[in-house]
Amino acid sequence: MTTLTPILTKNWDQADSFTRAGYEREGGYRALRKALGMEPDTIVQEVKDSGLRGRGGAGFPTGMKWGFLPPSSPNPRYLVVNADESEPGTCKDIPLMMANPHVLVEGIVISSYAIKSNHAFVYVRGEVLHVIRRLQQAVAEAYEAGYLGRDILGSGYDLELVVHTGAGAYICGEETALLDSLEGFRGQPRLKPPFPAVAGLYGGPTVINNVESIASVPSIVENGADWFAAMGTEKSQGYGIFSLSGHVTRPGQYEAPLGITLRELLDMAGGIREGHRLKFWTPGGSSTPIFTEEHLDVPLDFESVGAAGSMLGTRALQIFDETVCVVRAVLRWSEFYAHESCGKCTPCREGTYWYKQMLKRLEAGQGSEADLETLLDLSDNILGRSFCALGDGATSPVVSSIKLFRDEYLKHFELGHCPFDPAKSTLWAGA
Ligand SMILES: Cc1cc2nc3c(=O)[nH]c(=O)nc-3n(C[C@H](O)[C@H](O)[C@H](O)COP(=O)(O)O)c2cc1C
Ligand code: SF4
Repeated sequence: MTTLTPILTKNWDQADSFTRAGYEREGGYRALRKALGMEPDTIVQEVKDSGLRGRGGAGFPTGMKWGFLPPSSPNPRYLVVNADESEPGTCKDIPLMMANPHVLVEGIVISSYAIKSNHAFVYVRGEVLHVIRRLQQAVAEAYEAGYLGRDILGSGYDLELVVHTGAGAYICGEETALLDSLEGFRGQPRLKPPFPAVAGLYGGPTVINNVESIASVPSIVENGADWFAAMGTEKSQGYGIFSLSGHVTRPGQYEAPLGITLRELLDMAGGIREGHRLKFWTPGGSSTPIFTEEHLDVPLDFESVGAAGSMLGTRALQIFDETVCVVRAVLRWSEFYAHESCGKCTPCREGTYWYKQMLKRLEAGQGSEADLETLLDLSDNILGRSFCALGDGATSPVVSSIKLFRDEYLKHFELGHCPFDPAKSTLWAGA
């Protein structure tokens, strides 16, 4: 039985967890003092050795990413923290910044020092004003205490940190669109290469990492790479926040080693809401293919989830019970992708529009099995042919739901309406 490992979440139940005093009482900023006494390259090596992989979805090794920065460049280096968190179901970075913003600030100072950058930015999703205020307050407190600014803690190291708010576009979470937006342009993905490590923000070498990735750095510096690597699985090391939402008795954030299963998490969360049963779930947000009851024991690490046909993504475990129409859920997600498609490339711009049009009809029971083949064909024209991963992600709920719930689509056509429409029928028992 895997148990919880509260590290980033350990002080969340304290009334003053978001203040500098509250954070320091729990040992906060101790890792920064230790880091400033270390060589920057030693910290990069420590993060490499820990096995930390990006917590923003793709799971790219963090230390290796830092190592891609060219050793010398005429332009300044930047650290950019991706706090845009807009994927449906993903809800870990925003609560983390709300409850414990100082762990992110401390992580930013250590990471910037390690990559030899004197300018850092946090790009926060614009709608979460309460979180932005908390973060700004934490940054102001850190400046006051000498953790930011000039000559940090007498070390001779300088760092300026800017909190920048986006305007609520999902695409601005894609790292190169984020950079364009941060520079003041319309947020659309850039052609790669050059990768941000070579030419990123203002053309300078740039590291972009997720909030949780950077917030994990103080614990690695304080406790060592071996401590971190001892948690999790062989190739997916460490701990992570698993966000349980939807039809679960106690939804919330469960911080645990990678490799824990949904069955174990549900046990801790009081199970599916009373009187109901699990129908389908996402392992990592709406862009990851859905799973069913069959996948309850899949270890939630990058490799095992991939081998089972989905992706670990952001560990956003959205739980749906038997009262939910899968076609309707997929329609809702597709409406989101059609709305958020930035329009730069044809497969995604046109494909997500047609997803929305078709699924609206199918959910209303107006369709035939041939339409499912058209949807799969459309998906083939989006997946791998879009300019960025938003288009690929849009295909995940469509393709996986047709694979796992074809009968439910067919039931819609047979009845001529949604079998879950309470005005027309009682709940369909075959779901
Ligand atoms: C449409 C789209 C939205 C994304 N949104 C986010 C986001 O909100 N936060 C995030 O950290 N990564 C997001 N990503 C992934 C980033 O492009 C990038 O991989 C990540 O910030 C790298 O950080 P990491 O290596 O620490 O995971 C998004 C990607 C795409 C394609
Ligand atoms: S895949 Fe979609 S979001 Fe990405 S560049 Fe193309 S149109 Fe824009």
